[in-house]
Amino acid sequence: MEYGCKGKTVLITGGTSGIGLAAARAFWLDGANVCIVGRDGVRGMKALAEIAGCKDPEAAVFPGLPSGSDTVSAADGLGTAGCGGSGSVIPGTAEDLARLRYIRADVTKPAGCRTAVATAICYGAGRIDILVNSAGVYQEKRIENITVADYNRIMDVNVKGTLFMIQACQPFMLPYGETEKAAAGGAGSGEQGVTGNTCSAAARDRCIINIASDAGIGGNYGCPVYCASKGAVVSLTKALALDLAPEIRVNCICPGDVDTPLLAAQLEAAHGGYTKEDMGASYPLGRIAAAGEVAHVICSVASPANSFMTGAVIPVDGGLTAAG
Ligand SMILES: NC(=O)c1ccc[n+]([C@@H]2O[C@H](COP(=O)([O-])OP(=O)(O)OC[C@H]3O[C@@H](n4cnc5c(N)ncnc54)[C@H](OP(=O)(O)O)[C@@H]3O)[C@@H](O)[C@H]2O)c1
Repeated sequence: MEYGCKGKTVLITGGTSGIGLAAARAFWLDGANVCIVGRDGVRGMKALAEIAGCKDPEAAVFPGLPSGSDTVSAADGLGTAGCGGSGSVIPGTAEDLARLRYIRADVTKPAGCRTAVATAICYGAGRIDILVNSAGVYQEKRIENITVADYNRIMDVNVKGTLFMIQACQPFMLPYGETEKAAAGGAGSGEQGVTGNTCSAAARDRCIINIASDAGIGGNYGCPVYCASKGAVVSLTKALALDLAPEIRVNCICPGDVDTPLLAAQLEAAHGGYTKEDMGASYPLGRIAAAGEVAHVICSVASPANSFMTGAVIPVDGGLTAAG
């Protein structure tokens, strides 16, 4: 599928798993320079192999992150035995693999967000065109059992991480002339570099996509903090769509249940109380989603052909919220 993102630099938090990984693969196949962010280096390296189309990521060669570094490209990190050549487990060319990079960072720390962005711009011609905030955590716990630690963990990743990634990225998503000026001002300096309504059509072609949830639109049973965090992401999206227009489009996607490691952990925590099929039965379409189905919507929203959409809250939920 072509989305028109060839040559763009795309930074995806949570790009090492689930929805973020599926989006990373779709952008990479479209010809974009893709940087995926997560905390776990081993998971990050396996994600590089999976995105690159390795049939068996476990069997790919993993030299690991270079010593003292928090980033590696698929061309370097998957090892010579894994990159092209006969008997290769990685099908991409070295050039293709160089467009794919893992960055180790924790989005709950503003410094981690800045490091991720600084690393991505080094490999992205000094700018970021598309930011996807997919890093997220889920927990089922009723109100009477929630601790401050539970609250902080969920809000820190889902809300604080999203907000500070956007703050770190925004100066590098401005029109070319303004990027330098804003970067010199720096985050927190009071000079964020947002300019007037002067940008060209090409400059408007920058966008941020936040992954919220159907739980951010309506309520959901047994996960009030998660619902609150995703409701905050929906509101943050709308607020920033106003503040960052016309230079940067900001939209938000609200998936229903998606078959990812997050959902697998949810099922495990429920100790067999319900299955994927049980979950799917409540959907008008009769099933839960595959990560690729959400990735397709992410890439479509990011496409320059979609240049008039901002502030949108887009359910991808098999009709679940249609009745409400
Ligand atoms: N799956 C669903 O049913 C569903 C439904 C609606 C909405 N969503 C939302 O969709 C997004 C993606 O979910 P998913 O199902 O793809 O989850 P997933 O498979 O569990 O992936 C989560 C990703 O977030 C990263 N991450 C978590 N904490 C992080 C941190 N502090 N710093 C940096 N990265 C961090 C993880 O990498 P590391 O652990 O290595 O850091 C991983 O790459 C989440 O925001 C989720 O709330 C999911």
